[in-house]
Amino acid sequence: MNTIGIGLLGAGTVGGTLIHRLVTEHAAIAAKTGLDLQVRRVAVRDPAKPRSFEIPEGMFTTDPMSMIEDPDVDLVVEVMGGQEPAGDLVLRALETGKPVVTANKELIAARGDELIAAAEKSGVALLFEAAVGGGIPIIRPLSETLAGERITRVMGIVNGTTNYILTRMAEEGTAYADALGQAQDLGYAEPDPTADVEGADAAAKAAILASLAFGTWVGLDHVPHSGISQVTATDIRYARDLGYTIKLLGIAEDTPQGVSARVHPVLLPHDHPLSSIRGATNAIFIEGPAIDTLLFAGPGAGGDPTATAVLGDVIDAAREILAGAQVAPRIRFAPSSLADFGAIPTKWYVRLEVEDRPGVLAQIAAAFGEASVSIKSVWQEGTDDEATLLIVTHRAPEADQENALRTVGNLDCVNAVAAAIRVESEEA
Ligand SMILES: NC(=O)c1ccc[n+]([C@@H]2O[C@H](COP(=O)([O-])OP(=O)(O)OC[C@H]3O[C@@H](n4cnc5c(N)ncnc54)[C@H](OP(=O)(O)O)[C@@H]3O)[C@@H](O)[C@H]2O)c1
Repeated sequence: MNTIGIGLLGAGTVGGTLIHRLVTEHAAIAAKTGLDLQVRRVAVRDPAKPRSFEIPEGMFTTDPMSMIEDPDVDLVVEVMGGQEPAGDLVLRALETGKPVVTANKELIAARGDELIAAAEKSGVALLFEAAVGGGIPIIRPLSETLAGERITRVMGIVNGTTNYILTRMAEEGTAYADALGQAQDLGYAEPDPTADVEGADAAAKAAILASLAFGTWVGLDHVPHSGISQVTATDIRYARDLGYTIKLLGIAEDTPQGVSARVHPVLLPHDHPLSSIRGATNAIFIEGPAIDTLLFAGPGAGGDPTATAVLGDVIDAAREILAGAQVAPRIRFAPSSLADFGAIPTKWYVRLEVEDRPGVLAQIAAAFGEASVSIKSVWQEGTDDEATLLIVTHRAPEADQENALRTVGNLDCVNAVAAAIRVESEEA
């Protein structure tokens, strides 16, 4: 039998489910793959904690480094999360010549280039299918299946918590704070939801997607991000009337200005495939000249789907160990120019609260014009001496759009720039 000894860093939601699957489905996995996958050591913080799986007590350790260096461990699975100590432990495992499977987007987004180089130097695999999109196969398609495609753009709903909140707001008119509370009650959102709702979690995933799609390392500091905490049910309703759905997207593009990655809420046309992705589901939409478009959708989190992705990587790495060859990295990064976000053409939906008197519209149009932003459409609703103006602009460099918003916000006739959200549509 082809026996592979597995050491786990972490046995929480993902690690615990993985161990349960490795134990209960051992025979089925062996029958399908010819592999005898054995859990040998499990590093945790508290070995006394009640667990959802059963392994002999002596397998637990609180000394992760000793687990990595244990000669019975052939392959390391990192499911402890966070940047440290996970980062140094993964690096040590790779330097020791052991392949690593990780689900840790935070670590890969922060140190992926360094860790992939360390894996290449040792000739072992570093696999991270579960780091983006949980149970959705997306890392392998991007870095292997589509390696020959000249990908132009990747757009993804890569955070289930925010998609759940936006869906509740859109379908039931729920206020943001109430929808967030519901997400917390259902366990979709952490007690401190900041990383999800302000876009940092999605930014880590967008950095990974951009790096793999364009074969150039895109560090987190090149991924500007904003979240959904300013999105209101009012704007979701207005956007719907204008033909759009509001989503939080990670966008990675190969533009004439260079590679760009960013995360922000967008108005998407109702007929865009990502507009119909509801609840906590994740989806990634890939565009390229030969494939045209591809949509990957499914569960972006949860112990079971994520453990399936990790298990697939474990089987892949185990096969390579048994093949005995030096492993080439799945992806190599070449330097490429990264775009300044200010230069990227964007279009905006802007909601203004204005005084309802003659000449106001002309002043506002002039302010946009001065900033070289042209207006595509205007919709107005009056209430006594106040009016709401909904403006959708044409495409213009992001810096000009932001400049226009500042100028418009300073006009005496404008009481408030109540909302400003980018629009993603094929039109100019
Ligand atoms: N949960 C998901 O749905 C999901 C989806 C996709 C990706 N991921 C990624 O998967 C990874 C794990 O997530 P999770 O939800 O399974 O986390 P979790 O439930 O919090 O589990 C973390 C595990 O790591 C152990 N641990 C943490 N710090 C440690 C340390 N310094 N030394 C030894 N052990 C340590 C914990 O030990 P104790 O058990 O003793 O506390 C626990 O077993 C993260 O990178 C996450 O981003 C998770």
